[in-house]
Formats: sequence, C-alpha cells, structure tokens
Amino acid sequence: MSKQLEVVKLNEKGDAVIILDQTKLPNHEEYLTLTKEPEMWQAIKLLQVRGAPAIGVFAGYAMAALAQSLKELPYDSFKEKFDALADHLNTSRPTAVNLSWALNRMKKFVSDHKEDTAELCADLIKEAKTINAENLAMNQKIAEYGVTLLHEGDGILTHCNAGYLACLGYGTATAPMYLAHEKGMHIHVYSDETRPLLQGARLTSYELYKAGIDVTSICDNMASLVMKQGKIQCVMVGCDRIAANGDFANKIGTSGAAILAKYYGIPFYTLGPSSTIDFNTPTGKEIKIEMRDPEEVGEMWYKEPMILKEIKKFNPSFDVTDHELVSGIVTERGIVYPPFQENLKKLFRK
Ligand code: MRU
Repeated sequence: MSKQLEVVKLNEKGDAVIILDQTKLPNHEEYLTLTKEPEMWQAIKLLQVRGAPAIGVFAGYAMAALAQSLKELPYDSFKEKFDALADHLNTSRPTAVNLSWALNRMKKFVSDHKEDTAELCADLIKEAKTINAENLAMNQKIAEYGVTLLHEGDGILTHCNAGYLACLGYGTATAPMYLAHEKGMHIHVYSDETRPLLQGARLTSYELYKAGIDVTSICDNMASLVMKQGKIQCVMVGCDRIAANGDFANKIGTSGAAILAKYYGIPFYTLGPSSTIDFNTPTGKEIKIEMRDPEEVGEMWYKEPMILKEIKKFNPSFDVTDHELVSGIVTERGIVYPPFQENLKKLFRK
C-alpha cells in the first residue's frame, strides 16, 4: 500500500485521540489532539474526521480515551457516565450507522465486563484497536472482491470520498482501485467534486494522485458527459447506511450518479463493510438525512459568499439511492447481487 497520512489514532497514553484535520486538506496536513467529549463531538460535526468507517473507528478510540478520566470511579458510576458520553457523541451526525454501531459496541463491552474499572479501561483500548484492525481487514477483503469487477483500461467514476481518508487502509470505494493499481492494471478514475463540501475534489483526487493513480477531477455536472463519451465503464461509491432492502444513503449527489449510470447502461456498485448494513432500517425511506448549515452552499471554500445572504439555500448532506439502480453491493464477505433483501440476509444473518 502506498504511503498514507495517519487519519485517526490514540495517543501513547491512551487518553487522547489524534486526528488529521480533513477540513484543511489538500493544502495543509494538520493534526488535532482531542481529549474532551465536546471537542470530539465538534470534530465529527465539522467533518474534521469524516467518512462512515473512519467515524466508527474514531468513536471507538474516543470512548477508550474518555474512559481513562473515569477510571477511579466504581463500576456503576463509571458505566453511567460512560453511557452518557457515548449517547451524546452519537448525536453529532445522524446518517452514517457506523457511529452508533461503534458506540453501541463499546457500551456493550462495558456492560459485559463488570470488572475493576482500571482493568476495564485497559481492555477498552484493546477493544477500540480491534475495531480499527477489523475495519482494515474488511477493506482488504472489499478490495479483493471489488477488483474482480474491473478490467484493464477501465474508467471508473466515484463520488465523494470513500478512500483511506474516510475509511482507513484501502478505503471502500477506492479499495479495488488501489488493488488494481498494485497489480499493475491501468485504470483511470474520474472523481466528482462533490458539492458543497468538495470531498471528491479536496480528498479523493488528492489521495489517489498521491498514490500514483491516474485521476481526473470533474465537476458533479460533468458526470453525464463523461459517461456519454464512453469514458466510464463502472461507478464505485461508498455508503453511510445500507437498509435491509439494499437502498443506501451516501453523499448528496450519489443517487444522481446512479440514475445516469442506469441511463447509459453502466454498472453501479456501492462498497462498504458489514458495519454499514443496518437490518433495523427496512428501506431507504427510514434513513435520517443530515441537514447541514445552509451557508455551506454559498460560502464555504469561497473567498466571498457566492449567493446573496438573503437567498434561501437547501443543504441535505446525503441522499438515498434506490436499490433498483444498484448492480451490486461489495462487502467483506463477497459481492451481493439482487434481490438484495434476500441475498443480504443470506450472507449476513446466518
Ligand atoms: O459527509 P462525509 O464526508 O462524512 O460523507 C462521506 C461519504 O458520503 C462517503 O462517501 C461515505 O461516508 C462512505 S465512506 C465509506
């Protein structure tokens, strides 16, 4: 794997989480050290740490670090305070299921280990590191399954950033691209800019370029043109929550790319680990879509506001892609094809 920046880690003492501040990329590589829950909450909210799986890993580390300040407490008050911190952290962003998944796993670990709290704190660090290691291993498997969908010379369209900055390791949507590149295949990636927060422009094109992968950054409204020109052989995107029927939420603009792909007859895949599948959400209709500050649309990344203050703006951060537009879901256990309702269950609910 090519050299990567460290996205999220625990400090040596285990009482702080160190993150790469992704709002500063691609021009500045700056790190933040977080020790208190409000600053961790804010780091998620402001997208200093972002991308569904990376948020999950961050949440594990955050709870392990916060636990250190509670280690003098007897078990019952430790658990009460630990759960309250986790519940509050869970309110930072609603759409990616990985956040609540990781927080619930850390809470369950505490419930299952009624032991001396100093010992429990040490074990929580191990549990958080396990979440990270499992995530890396899942991305490796996603790379192996995903690369079977690619051919020499393929053009691939991706939206937002589901690379190592969002998911660590190989990333998810980028995993087959990294592996194809390692195998010496020639692929060309078109990276949608991803308005309004520009994760595709600032992050995906940056990380693929640094890895030596042939990448072209395009504005979101150019996707139809490159498809029509025959430059795209498949679309690969990440996911923030996959419902039981295969509908999935991902960055705003993803469903548009899926509709275009259908029109041009191009296969469209979403790639994600099992921690992104939410069997408690029957369909995409039940997925809560994060609404962000409307001013991000007109002001963020510009020197001056580009839309008059008085004009209304609408800023949903995610959309839901209907399962009927999806050719396959690439997971660490294999590629799931339609009918998703049945086949997701078969693979993950044995
Ligand atoms: O708002 P972000 O930057 O956290 O959104 C990221 C995306 O939508 C990614 O494509 C998604 O999290 C999948 S990353 C595996």
